[in-house]
Amino acid sequence: MDIDVTVLLCLVLGLIMYFLFQPRNPNSPPCVSSWIPWFGAAFQFGKAPLEFLEQARIKHGPVFTVYILGNRLTFVAETEDALELLRTKEADFDEAVMQNLFLIFKLIVRQLSPSNLHQFSETLWDEFHEHVDHLGKEGTEDLNELVRQVMFPTIMKTLFGKSFGPTNKSRTEEFERHFQNFDDEFEFGSQMPEFFLRKWSKSKTWLLTEFERIVTDIKKHKPSESDSKTLVQHVLDNFHGNGVANFLLLLFWASQVNAVSGAFWTLAFILSHPSIYKNIMEEIVSVYGKAGNKIEVFEDDLRKLPSIKQCILEALRLTSPGVIMRKAMKPIKNFVIPPGDLLLVSPYWMHRNPKYFPEPEIFKWSHDRWKEANLEKNAFLDGYFAFGGGKNRCPGRWFSIMETHMLVVILLYKYQFTLLDPVPKQVTSAGI
Ligand code: HEM
Repeated sequence: MDIDVTVLLCLVLGLIMYFLFQPRNPNSPPCVSSWIPWFGAAFQFGKAPLEFLEQARIKHGPVFTVYILGNRLTFVAETEDALELLRTKEADFDEAVMQNLFLIFKLIVRQLSPSNLHQFSETLWDEFHEHVDHLGKEGTEDLNELVRQVMFPTIMKTLFGKSFGPTNKSRTEEFERHFQNFDDEFEFGSQMPEFFLRKWSKSKTWLLTEFERIVTDIKKHKPSESDSKTLVQHVLDNFHGNGVANFLLLLFWASQVNAVSGAFWTLAFILSHPSIYKNIMEEIVSVYGKAGNKIEVFEDDLRKLPSIKQCILEALRLTSPGVIMRKAMKPIKNFVIPPGDLLLVSPYWMHRNPKYFPEPEIFKWSHDRWKEANLEKNAFLDGYFAFGGGKNRCPGRWFSIMETHMLVVILLYKYQFTLLDPVPKQVTSAGI
């Protein structure tokens, strides 16, 4: 064997031994080890994240660390620990980033607060109707695709303004294709060098160029006295420094991805439980009369349809997205978490804690699950993390509940649905 190759082999072996047996603080959480430097457990995690984490939780207990793509990720699996963690100041986002964006986030929270929602309801209704009208009177379609087709342009026009965004059908399709690529590898794209993700990186560059064009258009546009400003116009008036296109891309991503999935699951749960579907239709007909006519749905009407709101919250409980992330330096359960560790809590686990949600796997849409929550006053249930927690909780939560509520009413009223395929497995049965 060549001497250079021997030296290289020794180096690689040394590195592997270091990663496997490096000395660690006895008070750090147990670590899920892997012999691949830097990548760590990325492959096993990427294949089936929830199964991987469930196995790690069974083996290591409620707080454990996984090394992935150069990051130490510490998972916190118990509801009480997670609640404490999301409230504490010691677990926060990157301070430098947050200082720059603090005022912008405050502005978004203010703009999308419950008392301001009426501003959006007319545009939302107009846009939903325009796009639902395009769908025609009958047909067979993938439910997720149907929701996406309607929600995508509606959110764009509502948040950015009617005259902005992709200008024609082919541009819209191109936008959607790049956005889909961007979303598909978002988790990896935000952690890995872009060199490994050529398609993701190309689509991100395309989208950033498009957002830069939109920013220029919005800034050139002089709104008339009667025009009320859109959320994005408010953001642009207050955003100082570089990176505005990047910020808008992330804002648009945050507003789209979870909202489309939330609306899809709400409809899927309703349609796959005939008794729930029947009850919801009776409620809608009691407010709007016989289904099938054209209706106007405004914020106030939605209050008369509380069961749909319960279905939305329950669907989000069972299908909440991945994980909520913070950066840490805080002892949790007597463990010292090294500074810089990424701390993760998972709504998936929290929402299956029977102490907070009895019979957690069952879709309980009606009063027995949600009777404790004061939905009129916009209060959720303890242990409910669908929109995160603490001061970085999702500022779009009330807006997204309202838009989902509206879309579900409009679609259920216009169409009579029959499911042709089984719903992907999420729950076993409905509890009414
Ligand atoms: C069903 C729909 C939605 C769900 C389930 C959802 C969920 C979440 C979650 C879990 C977070 C992380 C919170 C945390 O770290 O504690 C978040 C953050 C965020 N969401 Fe949403 N979201 C939805 C819709 C929206 C919409 C429609 C918008 C905007 C119009 C939006 C804007 C944001 C923003 C800007 C953040 C970052 C907040 C911050 O870092 O301080 N979201 N969302």
